[in-house]
Parts: sequence; structure tokens; C-alpha cells
Amino acid sequence: MIDRRALLAAVPALAACDRFASAQDAPISAPPLKSVSPAPFGTCIQAGHIDDPAWVALARANVSQLTPEWEMKMEYIAADGLNAPYRFDRTDRIVDFAQANGMAVHGHTLIWYSQGGDLVAGLSGAEFDRVFDDYVATVAGHYRGKVRSWDVVNEPITDDGEGMRDCHWSREYGADGYVLRAFEKAKAADPEAVLFLNDYNLENTPRKGAEFLRLVERLLKAGCPLEGIGTQAHLDIEIPPGQITSFIREAARFGLPIHVSELDASLRSEGRIDLRSDRERLAQQTGRVRELAVAFADLPERQRFAFSIWGLRDTDSWLRQGDKDDGKDSPLPFTASGAANPMAAAIASGFQA
Ligand code: G3I
Repeated sequence: MIDRRALLAAVPALAACDRFASAQDAPISAPPLKSVSPAPFGTCIQAGHIDDPAWVALARANVSQLTPEWEMKMEYIAADGLNAPYRFDRTDRIVDFAQANGMAVHGHTLIWYSQGGDLVAGLSGAEFDRVFDDYVATVAGHYRGKVRSWDVVNEPITDDGEGMRDCHWSREYGADGYVLRAFEKAKAADPEAVLFLNDYNLENTPRKGAEFLRLVERLLKAGCPLEGIGTQAHLDIEIPPGQITSFIREAARFGLPIHVSELDASLRSEGRIDLRSDRERLAQQTGRVRELAVAFADLPERQRFAFSIWGLRDTDSWLRQGDKDDGKDSPLPFTASGAANPMAAAIASGFQA
């Protein structure tokens, strides 16, 4: 069922993009995003960004929360294996930068299906427990009192939404078991941090969103210290209006804080014949982004945890790195030079609807 409000909400964004498309170089104006956000406004960060004055200036102007993009994951912290100390140098620097700039830190991520297999290869039972429990306790303990929250488990649901991913963690503890264990160990290590379950395509793929929420329900019934829902929102801009609103409203029924945790909105066509004009793609992007901002702003205040983008400038995006880079995608609110994109205006407009 199409949400009429979402359709009406798209109108200003369309106007914004008309101005953008027709006026060509007309600058887009957008207020500092943290100043109009109904909750902390965040972005991801890499330690190297701290050495980029343009990035620092844009971050100071627009954000009040930071999520380490990759250096707080096993791939960096445990890069030297279990017989070497965990590496906290870069994320300590990020935490220090955040504290010096009055920004909160959202920890990302303790347990993820896509990392850590090398650490537990060939292990089982008590040896496996020691690695799993020690990692969560050590990392969450190291940042106790320094991070606001954690993505305790990232991306537990299969892409098709059929069920739980099979991974080295689930094969040892069971599909829900590893999630429960991770949350219990994280809670013990940092009782104050708000503990999130985080996943992607929850709006794009309603079947996956529904399966994710069924996991949330099972975990809560099992007494899991699950305290927040993270929806990454790497948006598919071609989804129908209203689909985003439907998921956010469904997720909100648990009464938990909601974190829009990794928003970006690619304009790419993923290698297929694409008959959409630039104007049409921009209208889709600003329409869906604005719909997400409206849906988030409509949440009760206690459920508006934070609204985070997955990068500041288009060229900071993971979508513009290496062989993924098509040289022109504009998935983020700011251009490479830090000017506002129509996406920034769409976010601000949605917050103020
Ligand atoms: O900076 C180093 C570089 O010095 C080195 O030469 C190079 C090759 O080893 O690696 C570079 O680091 C890479 C880093 O991105 C910065 O580009 C890491 O290898 C690479 O693993 C890392 O990828 C990150 C990815 O998660 C895996 O951790 C992406 O930046 C990050 O955007 C992406 O973020 C994920 C979220 O965590 C979960 N949701 C999906 C999202 C997008 O995939």
C-alpha cells in the first residue's frame, strides 16, 4: 500500500532536484545537518580522515557522532592474529578526536559473519569460547565509557531474507546462539553502552526486513540485552515510495531506539541498461532519502537514536573506492569538494517536514 504522505513528501525534493538539474551549476543550499537533525547526526570515519582538514571542517559543521568505518572491526584490531596484541591505535585516535570535538562514538562492529573466520579456524569448544568471549570482552572493555553504543552483531540475515546466515560463529553456537552470546558478553564488558543489532536492505527487501524483525522478537523473548535496532539504509533508490516508511514503522513497534546507521543512496545502474535520465535518478534518490528522514523524524524522541550517513563526500564513499568506482556516482550529501548535494537538502527537508 503506497503511503500517500510519502508521495506528497517527495514533492519538495523533486523541486530541489529540478532546480539542480535545470540550473546546472546553481549551488544547493542546505543547513548544517546536525543543526536540523532530531537526533545525533553521524558519519563513518577512518583514522586518516583526521589528517584531512577539509574532512575535519565538514565533519565539525555537520556531525555529532562518528562510526569507525573499518578500523574497529576484527580485520584491523586482530590483524596480527591471536598471538599478537589487538591493535587499538587507530580507533584510540578516532575516540580521542571525537572527544576533543564533542562527538559521540558508535562502535562498529564486534561480531560479523564476514570476519574472524581465520581466528577460529580449527577451534571448537573451550578454545573457541576463549577466542570469542575474549575478543568481545577485550574490545568492548577497552572502549567502556568511551563509546555510546555498539553494533554488537552485524548482518545476521541472509540477503534473500530466508533466514539466518550460516557462518563460523553460527556453526559453533547455533544461528541465534552466537548472537545471544555476543550480546551477553558485550553487556558484561560495557553495561552502559546501548547494544544494537545492525543489518542492510531491510527497507529495500521487505522479506529481509521482516526476517530481521522476527530475529529481534526471538532475541527479546530469550532475554537478550538487545537495546537498539540498526538499519543501515544503503538505499535502492528504485524501490516504491512508502516501503521505507513501512519498515521504520514496523521496526518502531518494539519500542527500541532506532539507528539509521549507514545511509547512502547510489545513483548507479549496476551494469544494466538504464533508461532513466539523470534528473529521474536524482528525483528517486532525493525522494527516498527524504522519505527516510521523514520516517525517522516521526519516531518518538526516545526511539530516535541517531541518523548516520556512510561517508561525508561522494569520493569518501565505499562505493567510490577501487574497482567499484565509476568516477561519477553521487551517493552522499556532499560533493568531493564539500559542497551540498541535493541529498543534503532532501535530508534537511525531511527532518523539517
Ligand atoms: O586503508 C587501507 C589501505 O592502506 C590498504 O592498502 C588497503 C589494502 O589492504 O586496505 C585499506 O583499508 C580498507 C578500508 O576499507 C579502507 O578503504 C580495508 O582493506 C577494507 O576491508 C575496508 O572495507 C570496509 C568494509 O566495510 C569492510 O570492513 C569499507 O571501507 C566499509 O565502507 C565497509 O562498510 C560496511 C559496513 O561495515 C557494514 N555494512 C556495509 C558497509 C559497506 O560494505
